[in-house]
Amino acid sequence: MKHLLGLREISKEDILKILNLAKDMKTILKSETKKTPHLQGYSVVTLFYENSTRTRTSFELAAKFMSANTTSISVQTSSVQKGESLLDTVKTLEALKTDVLIVRHSVSGVPHFIAKNCSFSVINAGDGMNEHPTQALLDMFTIRERLGTIEKLKIAIIGDILHSRVARSNIWGLSKFDNQITVFGPQTLIPPYIENFANVASSLEEAVSGKNVVIDLRIQLERQKRGFITSKQEYYKFYGLNEDIMKYVSDNTLIMHPGPVNRGVEISSEIMQLPNSTINEQVTNGIAVRMAVLYLCTRKEGIYR
Ligand code: CP
Repeated sequence: MKHLLGLREISKEDILKILNLAKDMKTILKSETKKTPHLQGYSVVTLFYENSTRTRTSFELAAKFMSANTTSISVQTSSVQKGESLLDTVKTLEALKTDVLIVRHSVSGVPHFIAKNCSFSVINAGDGMNEHPTQALLDMFTIRERLGTIEKLKIAIIGDILHSRVARSNIWGLSKFDNQITVFGPQTLIPPYIENFANVASSLEEAVSGKNVVIDLRIQLERQKRGFITSKQEYYKFYGLNEDIMKYVSDNTLIMHPGPVNRGVEISSEIMQLPNSTINEQVTNGIAVRMAVLYLCTRKEGIYR
């Protein structure tokens, strides 16, 4: 049984193994046919209880490029709407001969629960406010490709840290490589005890100054049941990556965002177009990283046992 549930529980060596393999997978992506036989005979299923464009599509393309049989379950049109439980859905997928399940759910820990109750591999595509491991892996891949290293860097993570599984996976993953991580956002969106895992900046200027990488986050309005921000306009003024704050950011600093972007709230359209902005590159790299993860999760001698 082999899974990818989070970056907290895997080693630096495992992460490097994925990133190194993703580099090879990227050459396949650039080839004319975009096809390898590595997942021939495997059934790969995506089950997303939350919306997605990048993660779901890139996992599906990654599996198809590797010759897997793929299918996507739309929760809106599935028997979940008739009241079928998560466990019964899992048992049904087992009966349907699933080999790898890629799951996204609004509740933290759902992929771990499924992994304990099934015979197939489980890949976490985002669970509540817990982890989004393949997003952090593709971020790390992009950083390494652009800067030549993922070690000993100064990295700022800006925005809605409280609700962000991307922030958590990046903090777990990047911390294994001796990086200096700083977070900043509205006080209401900074989780308690974060200072045990990252520096907390007291201003946006301080957060972005002298950094090799700035990871800007989406405001997760769907997880905000009460007023965490006063208004989108005010958020942009004080926490957004706008022209004023770019005075403090070097031309060599990578500007990253996992997407989807709220333009003019988290970041300006002009900054998204800069040569040091990697937003679209991250999406492309996501396919290569997910190909590597699918490959490793289906090998008998794989890293997740
Ligand atoms: N970054 C990310 O997870 O995007 P999607 O929600 O579109 O998959």
